[in-house]
Amino acid sequence: MKNTTLYYTRTAQVLHWLMAIIFIAAWLIGFYSGNFLSYETDGSFKGDIITLHKNIATTIIFLVVIRIFWRYTHPAPSLPDSMSPMMKGLAHAGHLALYLMLLALPITGCLFSWSAGHPAPVLYLFNLPTLIEENYDVLEIVKPLHIYLSWGAGFLVVGHIAAALKHHFIDKDTVLTSMTRQPK
Ligand code: HEM
Repeated sequence: MKNTTLYYTRTAQVLHWLMAIIFIAAWLIGFYSGNFLSYETDGSFKGDIITLHKNIATTIIFLVVIRIFWRYTHPAPSLPDSMSPMMKGLAHAGHLALYLMLLALPITGCLFSWSAGHPAPVLYLFNLPTLIEENYDVLEIVKPLHIYLSWGAGFLVVGHIAAALKHHFIDKDTVLTSMTRQPK
C-alpha cells in the first residue's frame, strides 16, 4: 500500500519525536556514565545515573513495538522524486538500521544488566521480568556489544539529523515537514 499523502500520520509523528527525545536522552546519560563517572571517584552517584539511564531507556522497548506496528499498518509518505534511486536506497537502509538500533540497544542493555545481576527497571515503576540469571560469560559478550552498538547508533542518529536538515535547508523539499506538519 503506497501512502499518497505528503505527511506521516499524527500518531507516527508523536511516536517519532517522543522516541527521539528518549533515545537521545538515554544515549547522553549512558555516555556520561560510561565515560565520565567511576565508582572509585563518584561512588553511588554513578549507580544513580546508570539507574536513570535504564529507567528511561527501557521505555523504548514498549514504544518500538507500537511504532513497528504503526509503521506496518500506516505506510510512510514516498520520498521526493528529486532523489536518485541510490539516495532513496540509502535513506531506506538508514531507516532500517535505526529501527534495528531501537530494538538492539534496549535488548543488549537489558541483557547487560541482568547478566551483571541487576534488574531492568521501567520509569522507576516496575522491573522487566529477568530473562537470564547473573552470568559473567554472557556479560563479557553483551557489555562490549551494547557499547559498540551505542556508538554505531550515535553516528546513525547524527547522519539522520544531518540528512533531515539538508533536505529542509538545501534541497528545500518536504522530507522534514512530513514529520512535523499535517495536511490543512
Ligand atoms: C535506547 C536505548 C539505549 C541507548 C541509546 C543506550 C546507550 C548507551 C550508551 C551511549 C552507553 C555508554 C557507552 C560507553 O561507555 O561509551 C550505555 C551504557 C550502558 N547502558 Fe545503555 N543504552 C540503551 C538502553 C539500555 C538499557 C535498556 C539498559 C538496561 C536496562 C542499559 C544499560 C546500560 C549500562 C549498564 C551501561 C553502562 C554504563 C556505565 O558503564 O557507566 N542501556 N548505554
